[in-house]
Amino acid sequence: MATPVKVTVTGAAGQIGYALLFRIASGQLLGSNVPVKLSLLEIPQAVKAAEGTAMELDDCAFPLLSGIEITDDPNTAFAGANVALLVGAMPRKAGMERGDLLGANGGIFGPQGKAINEHAADDIKVLVVGNPANTNALIAQQNAPDVPADRFTAMTRLDHNRALSQLAAKLQVPVTEIKNMTIWGNHSATQYPDLYHAEVGGKIAAEQVESEWLRDTFIPTVAKRGAAIIEARGASSAASAANAAIDHVYDWVNGTDWTSAAVVSDGSYGVPEGLISSFPVRAAGGRFEIIQGLEIDAFSRDRIDASVRELTEERDAVASLGLI
Ligand code: NAI
Repeated sequence: MATPVKVTVTGAAGQIGYALLFRIASGQLLGSNVPVKLSLLEIPQAVKAAEGTAMELDDCAFPLLSGIEITDDPNTAFAGANVALLVGAMPRKAGMERGDLLGANGGIFGPQGKAINEHAADDIKVLVVGNPANTNALIAQQNAPDVPADRFTAMTRLDHNRALSQLAAKLQVPVTEIKNMTIWGNHSATQYPDLYHAEVGGKIAAEQVESEWLRDTFIPTVAKRGAAIIEARGASSAASAANAAIDHVYDWVNGTDWTSAAVVSDGSYGVPEGLISSFPVRAAGGRFEIIQGLEIDAFSRDRIDASVRELTEERDAVASLGLI
């Protein structure tokens, strides 16, 4: 058997962790011929629950799962890691200001970034899922100066998949007929799902829907879907978030012509260099690359700028807290 790939999952005992780990162990993250070794990082109070999940993983007798390690020490969890899924984060509690939330997450993602810097494998790829995902990814990346910046990404694939599904339902087409969907900006209510580059049946999607629907239904439905799920389910998206994490990493490793991911900006499309913002990306050879040369109309420009402004404010806030 080939050498197993070490996949570290933080927040392993949480809801997304529970929906994610079995799919990773079954081969869906990297491919059906790639053995994996799981490392589960949790806070001390949740290690026991993670052990319970590990027992269930054992009970699946997955042919590709070569071992499971459970720890509350980031240095152990990230030692030799090839893929890191940073899911565990500090949720916003009642009365918490944004600065408090960013500060609390800085206390998680700063040390995790340092541990990745010191101990991860040379080919480490990091996906941050825990919110605020883009800025948590920025904190981790800035604390890992020896790791190439493009190894740090944040998840907007769930937003991308939500946009595909909403558009497919509207046009009564299978999702597979939709090409070139893009989410721009922050994984937050300011994100911009773009139908001016998406194509259905070879024609621009925005031209196949009413502009009122695009502006007043599509964009808010995609951007506020997380809140709608909480309202309906009484808990936040978990299986769909896990599914998106699988899609993100699978495409990053195995290649894709076009998807959405939050990656470190090189200044493309007027997004300040260094921000971790969602773009249309392709992947080849294990690297994401921002798709270049798209024309941005005035409507899209305003939306992208608004979301990027929010990211800039988040960056300034964590900088003023000394987290980056
Ligand atoms: P959860 O609360 O069920 O689980 C979080 C787990 O993280 C808990 O088991 C907790 O003990 C653990 N944790 C907290 N601090 C940790 C640390 N320092 N190290 C290791 N583990 C730690 O939450 P759930 O539902 O699994 O969601 C996880 C995160 O994903 C949340 O921040 C949520 O907002 C975010 N999310 C992001 C999405 C995206 O599209 N980017 C979509 C859905 C959720």
